[in-house]
Amino acid sequence: MCGIVGYIGTQAATEILLAGLEKLEYRGYDSAGIATVWEGDVHCVRAKGKLHNLRSKLEQIETPSQIGIGHTRWATHGKPEEYNAHPHMDTAMRIAVVQNGIIENYRDLREELKQKGHQFRSETDTEVIPHLIAELLKTSASSLLEAVQQSVNHLEGAFAIAVISADYPDELIVVRQQAPLVIGFGQGEFFCASDTPAIVSHTRAVLALENGEIARLTPLGVEVYNFAGDRLKKQPRMLNLNPMMVEKQGFKHFMLKEIYEQPGVVRASLEAYFSSDGNACQATHSPINLGLPTEFYADIEQIQIVACGTSWHAALVGKYLLEQLAGISTQVHYASEYRYAPSPLIPNTLIIGVTQSGETADTLAALAMEKERRQGKENKYQARLLGITNRPESSLGHMVPHIINTLAGIEIGVAATKTFIAQLMAFYALALEFAAHRQTISPDKIAEIIEGLRHVPKEIEANLETQEKLTEHLAHEFAETQDFIFLGRGINFPIALEGALKLKEISYIHAEGYPAGEMKHGPIALLDAKVPVVAIAVPGTVYEKVISNAQEAKARDSRLIGVTPVKDGEAAEIFNDLLPVSSVDELLSPILTVVPLQLLAYHIAARRGLDVDQPRNLAKSVTVE
Ligand code: M6R
Repeated sequence: MCGIVGYIGTQAATEILLAGLEKLEYRGYDSAGIATVWEGDVHCVRAKGKLHNLRSKLEQIETPSQIGIGHTRWATHGKPEEYNAHPHMDTAMRIAVVQNGIIENYRDLREELKQKGHQFRSETDTEVIPHLIAELLKTSASSLLEAVQQSVNHLEGAFAIAVISADYPDELIVVRQQAPLVIGFGQGEFFCASDTPAIVSHTRAVLALENGEIARLTPLGVEVYNFAGDRLKKQPRMLNLNPMMVEKQGFKHFMLKEIYEQPGVVRASLEAYFSSDGNACQATHSPINLGLPTEFYADIEQIQIVACGTSWHAALVGKYLLEQLAGISTQVHYASEYRYAPSPLIPNTLIIGVTQSGETADTLAALAMEKERRQGKENKYQARLLGITNRPESSLGHMVPHIINTLAGIEIGVAATKTFIAQLMAFYALALEFAAHRQTISPDKIAEIIEGLRHVPKEIEANLETQEKLTEHLAHEFAETQDFIFLGRGINFPIALEGALKLKEISYIHAEGYPAGEMKHGPIALLDAKVPVVAIAVPGTVYEKVISNAQEAKARDSRLIGVTPVKDGEAAEIFNDLLPVSSVDELLSPILTVVPLQLLAYHIAARRGLDVDQPRNLAKSVTVE
């Protein structure tokens, strides 16, 4: 987590850095800071809390410098206080460093450096870096670049770094080691950032550094080296990202805008993954096109999926689809658990990593572990890896041979919404493609499901206005509620989990998602008139069961909110409140049922006056373990 930016060129750096940090604030917002070099000194300004605090401080200070680095922090080592805010400096205050990641061996380094007389001012792991660079400049390095190169060879962990020095006023040195860092190429000016939104308003020509690379940015150009000091040949590529994509466009929050973008995301996915007429393409004999080679689908005996958070919920829907449509046994794991307790090796296993950001440390580590433990084994045990991500240019994109690019466009709100729906679309396409290859369902059935999917965007659109009004109204009633239960079964159980997660993360209300049939085995003891229950009840295999489970909750005085297409009869009698969704095949219903739950969480959080897009303690991409 944390966001870093850097600038070197001909314009005043401060405003460029602040604007860049604004676009990266989703990565962390415990504190922010910038450092610039000006009149022979490093000028460092930092503030606790959100970026506007730093902005206010900077209003009193004039800094015409044309080089600088900035940081927005998600605290790992040390409290979210100003003294722990980045940039960090060496004892003589000649070198400033910002870092995203974790320096695992910082304790040993700190002790060594202290013994050599370096004075530390923070509790962070990062502070060892400027001291180490200063030490190496004093003892063995003849340039800032060389000192940074030597330093990174002492550091253990995952990190991206940007360094400036008062003694090298025309150099910005950046490093990438398992944490993202991109360089932007302008006219006589260069940028660096943890993520492209921070630089896209200045340039679309970007170079994503690879792990183990260092770059030296000067007003004249960019040189890239490996950690051994060898010069590498690298070219920027043109980014396909419209700066408008990272604006709110009239919506009060990014999250609401992103909820409303979901019909478009489904349309984009339909266009990309399925042939326009539903007929099989002549070359692949399938109406689905994920761009994966035919041999990819051969001989798969089981699938293991690793993911975190909302991506894990999408993976649970994926499991349902892969098992029910394609008949492939599929397990879904929390990446953070799987990396330390993997399943026994089974031949011909497909391993799927699902991560919208493509940077989640646990997911990447679980995939890396799979790759490593299969190395040197017989062919059938070799890692067959697939990534599902919204950022194909991410670390995940570099790590796995095959990618399904989800087509949500950039998502800024910390709570995942449209990227979840995009992941669902990827799983529908993947499961149908496997089903086509394995002939587990007929071509007609496949065509029918695809046809059903084609109706989904306009159904979401048709639902949105009513659902917004209703959820706004419910938000008024539930703004002070302390606990919520979400129930679902079958393919809608993961949606209950996702509804609860959305509410927890942005409204700070305790919420649990449960498989509806599991309530009576314990959690039902929680229910009373103060605990509302949201039940997803879609006609199909488990509808009657969910209705019975909802009745059980009602008998314990819970207020019942039904997410259902059924407007009359039993459902209307049972539920105290309805959040209607259009009637679609149960198999496709998660794409519809999740939307009112996103809106409910959104409106409750907004009603409580909370920071919907940047909820406390969270960050958009979790690049630490
Ligand atoms: O980028 P990823 O999909 O790997 O992120 C995984 C989780 O950190 C993420 O889904 C998180 O749970 C979101 N805040 C959920 O809204």
